[in-house]
Amino acid sequence: MESKIKILNDKLAQAYLGGGQDKIDKQHQKKKLTARERVLYLLDEGSFEEIGALVTHRTKEFGMEYQVYYGDGVVTGYGTVNGRLTYVFAQDFTVFGGSLSETHAEKICKIMDLALKVGAPLIGLNDSGGARIQEGVRSLGGYADIFYKNVQSSGIIPQLSAIMGPCAGGAVYSPAMTDFTIMVEHTSYMFVTGPSVVKTVTNEEVTSEELGGASTHATKSGVAHKTSSNDVTCLEDIKKLLSYLPQNNKETPPLLPFKLQDEIREELSSIVPLDANKPYDMHKVISGIIDEDSFYEIHKDYAENIIVGFARLGGRSVGIVANQPQFLAGVLDVNSSKKGARFVRFCDAFNIPLLVLEDVPGFLPGTDQEWNGIIVHGAKLLYAFSEATVPRVTVITRKAYGGAYDVMNSKHIGADMNFAWPSAEIAVMGAKGAVEIIFKREIKSSEKPAEKLKEKEAEYAALFTNPYSAAQRGFIDEVIIPKDTRRKLIKAFSMLENKEIVRPDRKHGNIPL
Ligand code: HXC
Repeated sequence: MESKIKILNDKLAQAYLGGGQDKIDKQHQKKKLTARERVLYLLDEGSFEEIGALVTHRTKEFGMEYQVYYGDGVVTGYGTVNGRLTYVFAQDFTVFGGSLSETHAEKICKIMDLALKVGAPLIGLNDSGGARIQEGVRSLGGYADIFYKNVQSSGIIPQLSAIMGPCAGGAVYSPAMTDFTIMVEHTSYMFVTGPSVVKTVTNEEVTSEELGGASTHATKSGVAHKTSSNDVTCLEDIKKLLSYLPQNNKETPPLLPFKLQDEIREELSSIVPLDANKPYDMHKVISGIIDEDSFYEIHKDYAENIIVGFARLGGRSVGIVANQPQFLAGVLDVNSSKKGARFVRFCDAFNIPLLVLEDVPGFLPGTDQEWNGIIVHGAKLLYAFSEATVPRVTVITRKAYGGAYDVMNSKHIGADMNFAWPSAEIAVMGAKGAVEIIFKREIKSSEKPAEKLKEKEAEYAALFTNPYSAAQRGFIDEVIIPKDTRRKLIKAFSMLENKEIVRPDRKHGNIPL
């Protein structure tokens, strides 16, 4: 037995070396961890169980029969993150540049199947030169198998992708179909076609970093939900993100121990400026409400006019969607609508209650927005809220104007509890715009048009730029004092805990894409 065990150990030692020490050194020189180091860092100490360490490719062409590495460029298995079962695959750039062969894909698919059957998150650590060129269509088939399984798992188990090196060509579509993509700054990039193809086809000169680096995708395209400064912070970010999520769509997220005290937060009373045209930072409202330091922002640098992210409220995981008056006055536009809708749908799929903080002057006007389809993109957010069955609570801090009032989790589209601060202005539009339209003739024919405008503005403001006509109708459940907001919300979400909505069977709705 001993000699047989030695054979096994020799093989495993080879597997653990991936493409060899010189390739590992190269990886380290690029300030990247190896696949195995990443997996071991991600999972709780001693919890990793590897699956398929001795798998090899079956290719004979191009001298490949003489280049065989155990593991075939991907480390796969399971372990725990903060004590909770998690499946992981990590592409090993030291073996054929982490390129995806038929067997490499089979290994990934095997753990995807397990994750789906058992109901636990799947984490993909991507670092790959794409399809294994020597295998031709076999590797393309492998990618498609993964894409298909990504879709079958969507909405059932959380799927998280980290991009920790190259991710190019069709390979980008697996991360794109997972729930969250985190990119490591300066060492990762994602694009469908690289700089040389771009140069040939469009004659544009662009670097890999400009075309598809972490900062590009975090600010311009929205492909990256988050960026991390290096491999270690990226893995920490994944662990933290997982802490807000349930294991699967049948479970609820972990509830941390919490005992309700007075929960008064005086600082909330002085955030909204008296002048309704002055901006303020909605992050201050968020941190005034949630459990200390618990905000995990998603898409922080993309469509900054809306803020989305996870937080804890009385130990409960909640998804926050908040207009940001500090950026474009918190207006809804194409990108912010898409950003908000995607987040709402994730929370709804995984039983994470939704908290909406609203200060929105409406939709952004202009040809750019109309021609880029604000109608259909704004509809996404409206649709996403309307179909969400998780507990949904709204707090209107200031403006709730026009169609945006309806869209931002209003009572009419299924919100459960709608609060407003006394500073709320719930109306079809701002007072000035409104009176200019409805009293146009009266103002024009007046001897003192400016004074008439002011008078009518004040009249309109007294009637509508407050929360009370909505409260009279029951569209607002309660007008609350800002400092009580945290307590009100904790109690509301606790009250809504067992909310259940049964919908008639259908294949799926037809969200305007
Ligand atoms: C096989 C590959 C490979 C690949 C890299 N290698 N990519 N082997 N198939 N796709 C190998 C290299 O030959 C090299 O082997 C080792 O990995 C490291 O690569 P280097 O080029 O030395 O590293 P680096 O300079 O860091 O450049 C990394 C790279 C580059 C930018 C990723 O290797 C590259 O451009 N690769 C090809 C990318 C590509 O076009 N892939 C196909 C995309 S299409 P040795 O033995 O020398 O160390 C695609 C379709 C998917 O993926 C479709 C899904 C629908």
